[in-house]
Amino acid sequence: MLHTSCLRSAAVRGIARSGMANSYVLRLYSSAPLRVPITLPNGTTYTQPTGLFINGEFVPSADNRTTEVTDPSTELPIARVFKAGTADVENAVKAAKTAFDSHWSTADPEVRAKCLFKLADLVEQHAETLAAIESMDNGKSLECSRGDVSLVSKYLRSCGGWADKLYGNVIDTGKEHFAYSVREPLGVCGQIIPWNFPLLMWSWKIGPALVTGNTVVLKPAETTPLSALYAAQLCQEAGVPAGVVNIVPGSGRVIGEALCKHPDVKKIAFTGSTATGRTIMRNAAETVKKVTLELGGKSPNIVFADADLDKAVKNIAHGIFFNSGEVCCAGSRVYVQDSVYDEVLEKFRQYTASLKVGNPFDKDTYQGAQTSQKQLDKILDYVKRGEEEGARVVIGGKRRGAKGYFVEPTIFADVKEDMQIVKDEIFGPIVTVSKFSTVNDVVHKANDSQYGLAAGIHTKDVNKAIAVSRRLKAGTIWINTYNAFHQSVPFGGFGQSGIGREMGAAALENYTQVKSVRMAIDAPEI
Ligand code: NAI
Ligand code: MG
Repeated sequence: MLHTSCLRSAAVRGIARSGMANSYVLRLYSSAPLRVPITLPNGTTYTQPTGLFINGEFVPSADNRTTEVTDPSTELPIARVFKAGTADVENAVKAAKTAFDSHWSTADPEVRAKCLFKLADLVEQHAETLAAIESMDNGKSLECSRGDVSLVSKYLRSCGGWADKLYGNVIDTGKEHFAYSVREPLGVCGQIIPWNFPLLMWSWKIGPALVTGNTVVLKPAETTPLSALYAAQLCQEAGVPAGVVNIVPGSGRVIGEALCKHPDVKKIAFTGSTATGRTIMRNAAETVKKVTLELGGKSPNIVFADADLDKAVKNIAHGIFFNSGEVCCAGSRVYVQDSVYDEVLEKFRQYTASLKVGNPFDKDTYQGAQTSQKQLDKILDYVKRGEEEGARVVIGGKRRGAKGYFVEPTIFADVKEDMQIVKDEIFGPIVTVSKFSTVNDVVHKANDSQYGLAAGIHTKDVNKAIAVSRRLKAGTIWINTYNAFHQSVPFGGFGQSGIGREMGAAALENYTQVKSVRMAIDAPEI
């Protein structure tokens, strides 16, 4: 049904551009399909939308350009999806602005809540398909994808719950006036997301934007657009009105930039590299957009001698190897107190050797493929650099297999603080381990970074844990755990790791602005 109507609208646009009936026929047949059947590695077949999602329907790009999406575990193509250009951004922003102005920003809170609750339910119902899409498109293990999808539905539901709890303040300014403040939505929000958690980042962006009455134009990463398009169809089913959510897969430099510069886009929310974050801030500056950024990291993970060492080892392994190391807050710098250094390193080596790397769909696979050839090359280049810098490879250090972008989980030991592998975000399963002696020593080393996204502390001494957490410059501190996200707990960075917080109540501040109202009272003495 939808398929036919989308094809029809595509064809009609073809006519509108050419004004010729025979070009109608040509376009109908030359245009790529807007939905394709895809057989997942687990044997089930589903229908994947491949069009841009604009104003409530899947449509081809204005210039009919498509791009190939590949499976990083096999290096084989999965499908072709339409690639948005600047004309499509224009259409998407127009649709989002119309939806904002005409009804969504003033809709009853209950309307917004219902949409988000329904969307959360649908994500749950489609969880297995969504997880499989994510593993196929990104390469991460199915176990990781299932965890992502579970947090997506929890987070969307949590967002829905805020709809009727967005309070303002009454402000006492004396008896001759009545003053209060309310929080209002911003307008059309441009949202640009990365490829490491495609669906989770989609939910972190659209959830708080929608519940506060904004509309969105979201750009998924070039390499992983499938889950966002599949979820767009769930938005339709959940009753999210046309134009409220628009999805435009395409190039960061072209349409990412167009969103950042568009005068009708009032806010940019971005997750990705610090370098691109800087460009986005510059491009958004001209129209003074509100900007929130979740950027890179090089997070320290500290093991004190009094920790439960077996648990600590599992946490430092999970800290770096979870999601194939493609995690902005990965605990990529491990610091171990000198008296237990050798013991922890040996336990860490043994535990790492037990992690199964390979086909994301195999049972028990812990670590799947890196997401692209570009990431594989970057990681292997850093391994080479680490060896040249004189760091010792304890385990790993190589590509695994000749097909698929698999990398062995890799531990570098005896590193020095000024090595590039200790300074730079590698974004793969590569960890550095070094010794420290005192609290002062490790706090100094941990904080010696341009980044400040997260930090881990492992100790049985709760007083020490709290005291050290106060001194660490990071947006999230995990104590005796790591990569432990929760929909109610804000997440975001100090320093060059970003601006703003996602999840929890803090995320709502990114999507609202304060309006103050002060009214004179004529008869204050009555
Ligand atoms: P990137 O930051 O360039 O890409 C992230 C998103 O930004 C994508 O959707 C991309 O299309 C878009 N983008 C790129 N250039 C843009 C521009 N000029 N204006 C607007 N949007 C733009 O990251 P990339 O190149 O994919 O990965 C390189 C490195 O970045 C990784 O190795 C990793 O170190 C880091 N990274 C960090 C992430 C995080 O979660 N903090 C996520 C992804 C990458
Ligand atoms: Mg892909």
